[in-house]
Amino acid sequence: MSLHAVAMGAPPPDHCPLMPTYGAPALQLVRGEGSWLWDRAGRRYLDLLSGLAVTSLGHSHPAVAEALHQQAQTLLHVSNLFGTEPGWQVAQTLDRLLGTGQPGWPADGGMRGQVFFANSGAEANECALKLARRFGGRGRHVVVSAFGSFHGRTLATLHATGQPAKHEAFQPLPEGFRHVAWEDLGALDAAIDPTVAAVLLEPVQGEGGVNPASAEYLQGVRRLCDERGVLLMLDEVQTGLGRCGAWFAHQRLGVVPDVVTVAKALGNGVPIGACWAKTEVAAVFEPGDHATTFGGQPLATAAARAVLAVMEAEDVPARAERAGQRLVAGALALPGVRGVRGMGLLLAVELAGHDAKDVVARLLELGAIVNAVTPTALRLAPSLLITDDEVDHALALLAEALA
Ligand SMILES: Cc1ncc(COP(=O)(O)O)c(C=O)c1O
Repeated sequence: MSLHAVAMGAPPPDHCPLMPTYGAPALQLVRGEGSWLWDRAGRRYLDLLSGLAVTSLGHSHPAVAEALHQQAQTLLHVSNLFGTEPGWQVAQTLDRLLGTGQPGWPADGGMRGQVFFANSGAEANECALKLARRFGGRGRHVVVSAFGSFHGRTLATLHATGQPAKHEAFQPLPEGFRHVAWEDLGALDAAIDPTVAAVLLEPVQGEGGVNPASAEYLQGVRRLCDERGVLLMLDEVQTGLGRCGAWFAHQRLGVVPDVVTVAKALGNGVPIGACWAKTEVAAVFEPGDHATTFGGQPLATAAARAVLAVMEAEDVPARAERAGQRLVAGALALPGVRGVRGMGLLLAVELAGHDAKDVVARLLELGAIVNAVTPTALRLAPSLLITDDEVDHALALLAEALA
């Protein structure tokens, strides 16, 4: 079947043209608008997952579409041998948002850190890992991360990911990673020996089950890193940019990290990642140490510039917090819900007496998209612009799925 025929609405070919890394797709989706998606048959679904915390402004946001259209007609790509305006502006805005409410940020608009642009969360973390090795120097290259974490699928970020079952098939993985129990300061203390350059953590473990760090733990980690001269690197790929009710989840937990990575929501669906580091840390990189052809190119950064502008205009952290509270209160009132954990609009609904995969399938039949983040918990990560009516509709569908 020709690509043209597929595009014209013919059924997909029997033989799946994609590698079998994701299992069989539940649906083929053809269109999205705001919190809604449509399949080939014209059925509508309330998207409570946002492409895994990516489309934080909803689908087909007009400001992002317009920015892409304008940029595509102006300058689609130049190499990183040259600078472009959108990239510089996005880097400046990220630095300013990272400074929101944080001590030590210049009040005059001067920057506290510098940004490296990548194309994904894993690549943003890969930059952070290389930065840690450059910072530590030879013999001091180990990065400590937590069991239950998720940092990506490249060989290095896979090893940083604290899920040994995911490592098995791909041994040997790059050397220089160590894992400690989550929320256990004593274990971290014992793990930081003179070979350690950095600690890498998610403020809320997303893929690991939506497990928020306590302020006490993260502040303790900050103290330990300061005492030992080790970098504190926070992976905010899933939690950043308003999702957790603050610009960055760590801002709710009272710490200032040395390195922060973001991706997912930054392009609202256009692939882009970024690794920010304090200027004195970023200074350990020299020209030639790290590079990428597409990272920071003008189409992606024009989209990110539009995303950040809408996010600021709409005050998405406050909206996420408000909608999150409504969702939590409604979910807690449902029979079949044991509890809800998370921050802002990154939530896990812990079920009582239900298999999460069955509930995901039932919700899909009813017209809502969520995923099973553990065998007993659903993950909800809707658009940060979700309306009260849409939250109430989500709760009604959840009640029906659990009935
Ligand atoms: C916390 C975290 N870090 C890194 C990644 C990897 O990002 P990507 O899939 O864009 O490489 C993810 C993806 O889910 C993530 O949740």
